Amino acid sequence: MTGDIGADLGRRVVAAVAAAFEVDITIDEAVVRPSQRDGVDYQINTAMALAKRLRRPSREVAEQILDHLDLGSVAANVEVAGPGFLNVALNDAWLSEHTAALAADPRFGYRPEGAPRRVVVDYSSPNMAKEMHVGHLRSTIIGDAIVRMHTFAGDEVVRQNHLGDWGTPFGMLVEHLVDEGLHETEFSISDLNVFYQQARTKFDADQDFADRARARVVALQAGDPDTLALWERLLTESKHHIEAVYDLLGVQLTPADYQGESAYQPILDDVADELTRRGLAHMSDGALCVFLEGFTGREDKPLPLIVRKRDGGYGYDATDLATIRHRAQNLKGDRLIYVVGSPQSTHFAMIFAAARKAEWVSPATETDHVAFGSVLGEDGKILRTRAGATLKLTDLLHEGVQRAAAIVADRTDLSEAERAEIAQAVGIGAIKYADLSTDRIKDYVFDWDRMLAMDGNTAVYLQYAIARIRSILRRADHTPPLGASVTLTEPAERRLALELARFPEVMDTALQYLEAHRLANYLFDLATAFSSFYEQCPVLKSQDEVRASRLALATHTAAVLESGLDLLGIETPQRL
Ligand code: ARG
Repeated sequence: MTGDIGADLGRRVVAAVAAAFEVDITIDEAVVRPSQRDGVDYQINTAMALAKRLRRPSREVAEQILDHLDLGSVAANVEVAGPGFLNVALNDAWLSEHTAALAADPRFGYRPEGAPRRVVVDYSSPNMAKEMHVGHLRSTIIGDAIVRMHTFAGDEVVRQNHLGDWGTPFGMLVEHLVDEGLHETEFSISDLNVFYQQARTKFDADQDFADRARARVVALQAGDPDTLALWERLLTESKHHIEAVYDLLGVQLTPADYQGESAYQPILDDVADELTRRGLAHMSDGALCVFLEGFTGREDKPLPLIVRKRDGGYGYDATDLATIRHRAQNLKGDRLIYVVGSPQSTHFAMIFAAARKAEWVSPATETDHVAFGSVLGEDGKILRTRAGATLKLTDLLHEGVQRAAAIVADRTDLSEAERAEIAQAVGIGAIKYADLSTDRIKDYVFDWDRMLAMDGNTAVYLQYAIARIRSILRRADHTPPLGASVTLTEPAERRLALELARFPEVMDTALQYLEAHRLANYLFDLATAFSSFYEQCPVLKSQDEVRASRLALATHTAAVLESGLDLLGIETPQRL
């Protein structure tokens, strides 16, 4: 028996179908669903589709499946219902034992299929000429959750922060630095956006400056030592800004994961040569291009990946071609993940197609563009400051912590240090959870009140649920170890146990589709199931075996909630 009850039932149904009809079906075709109906824990919906295939009445097919279905001690009762459903009621004793076994397991029953993989995750990846914006907030949060989930699955994860640290903006910035006389002194740029804007304005208005900026780009690309030194000082400055955001967010990215666009410049000639040699790249309109079947632009014109531009330079496409070759061949990734907003969907579809054609990426290797929508303000447009300026992420995150601090400001039962810990965990958690609990492909409206609500599908609701369980355990003076035995009898206990048993399947699909909202919403369901259990089943006031069992369920629930939040990158304060 693996962790996931539905999958286990599914496998048993597949075997029964093979025995009854000598027909092979997949586990998905077994269609086993959890059921909310009284006295039914799972519904098996295999018969209807199979009946069509076999041209037999579906109830008859269901009965024959039932005749061959070996459920061992798992089920207390199985019945044919309606047009041919099989309704399964699980055996209480079996479910009790199963629940204890899940609690004892370090992954709560989740067992990834197949051997551990090497997973490369490209996330955050901001452009360094400017401050990070909300799009990078999403990439950073979503990417970090994916890193944590894959690590939990036992995979080896390689984080890659594909910093935008190369190209024309830097010629402009370096020249502006020199103009301001900053190249001769220590300097710090308090606001990168302002600095960028100044350079940009000059670039547009001053022909001489524009020429010098262009010459700088050429010097940078040619490796001129003075220019490179200034560029590096700019990057150092920009990294301070990025790291302030990472610190506040508590994400796992470190400087060791920085692998910016500039890192690929030395191999671009070779990549271009290889693509030409393999007959994939051709000259078109003076540029070296890769054309791929099925990709067309305006007026059905074939859309190219541009390997080398007409002026001989390399751009975003070329860098990503080099990047994917590196990730497949040198980093030996089995799953290549790119967490980047949906406007770049075509770009990545083309990069993946080209990498497969070039045989850099083997058919067994998975390539995923983890696309996401935009963060909107209340006006339905991209989130900005009230004044309409681009929003600095540090300001946004600080505001979250401040708002959370206000919630616990008058809690005299907490020390100042505890209040600060809570403000941090609740404020940042709110921002992350609001993002991760929505289907990533959708846009969402950034709304402080909603994301900080105590009741509702929010981080603080879950953090509070954990704190409440902890307080129950403190008052009980007894925290049973994970895996302590449980005895399920009451409906609310069984519902909680069934919810706990869903964890393996949720992790499985969350990782398959790289959708953190599946995990977030599961945690909310679990916390809700605990809430009803706690309302309906006295814990502290019950006796002996029942009390021990209910405390064990509480410990198990708290552990899954806390691990689940941790997988989303959200901290749980000790008290709340
Ligand atoms: N720097 C890019 C941007 O801000 C994102 C880079 C994503 N990663 C990649 N390998 N292209 O839009």
